[in-house]
Amino acid sequence: MTDRPVADPLLAVDGLTVGYGSVLALRDVSLEVASGEIVAALGPNGAGKTTLLRTLAGALKPRSGSVRFDGSSIAGMGPEAVVRRGIALIPEGRHVFPKLTVQENLTIGGITRSDREELRADAQRWLERFPILGERSRQRDLLIEHLHLIRDKFGYISGAHLAALAAEMRLAQAEVYEVATFYAHFDVVKEGETPPAPVTVRVCDSLSCAMAGADRLLKDLPKTLGPDVRVVRAPCMGACDHAPVCAVGHVQVNKATDESVKKIAYPTTHAHALHPGTDSSITWRPAAIACWPRPSPASAPATS
Ligand code: FES
Repeated sequence: MTDRPVADPLLAVDGLTVGYGSVLALRDVSLEVASGEIVAALGPNGAGKTTLLRTLAGALKPRSGSVRFDGSSIAGMGPEAVVRRGIALIPEGRHVFPKLTVQENLTIGGITRSDREELRADAQRWLERFPILGERSRQRDLLIEHLHLIRDKFGYISGAHLAALAAEMRLAQAEVYEVATFYAHFDVVKEGETPPAPVTVRVCDSLSCAMAGADRLLKDLPKTLGPDVRVVRAPCMGACDHAPVCAVGHVQVNKATDESVKKIAYPTTHAHALHPGTDSSITWRPAAIACWPRPSPASAPATS
């Protein structure tokens, strides 16, 4: 470990020695962490990383040495007292308390917070995300289908949605993010970004549609549809013989015109209220099919 001196450290560990029975797991470890600083403990299996963190979290008692946090000694304190001081151990692998409900797990996660109203609101926000999947299988190959469910409910997918979905499906957040951002259909909104307009019209601008007037649609549709509808370019939708082609939500509009797109996109006619067969120019596209890659992806991410 480091013995680099830190001016006025928030956490100061000095000469820490911890053992299990007759086996010493840590011997004379010292380190300091300043406020806002990130310090990593690196080492092979058995080096004592977990023992160190468990000792700092109060789950193990040191044999000797001191641990000071924010000016006070915390060595030998139990985990409940250490957590109340502001130190929490977050184990890898998304461990939760399996016998507790989602609500109870969320409540425990905020146990040291005193802003009870805000905590309740935060917990509620997370709870709203879980019922989306309901009793549906959490199998990995349903990831795209579940992304559609979130996108349909909220109109976009936020970083918090992706984190909740990854936790629900027990997948790495990076994998869920990679799949969500691969497809043009999913609007992934990063923290601090403004969510898109409630309705999105995607206009295919690939060759056949470009020759059939996609550029004119891209220019005119924003004026025809107004600010509540976002108009964006999209790659080929596989209906080139019906060019120009647009998609409004899950509804594909063949031989699109300003009027036919407006009929579906206009807020009083919600796309999901339409049914296949009611208009020959409209093709109903099931959610799992109505997604296509963003332009120039390297390759499709594996989802099964
Ligand atoms: S070129 Fe537009 S659907 Fe194929």
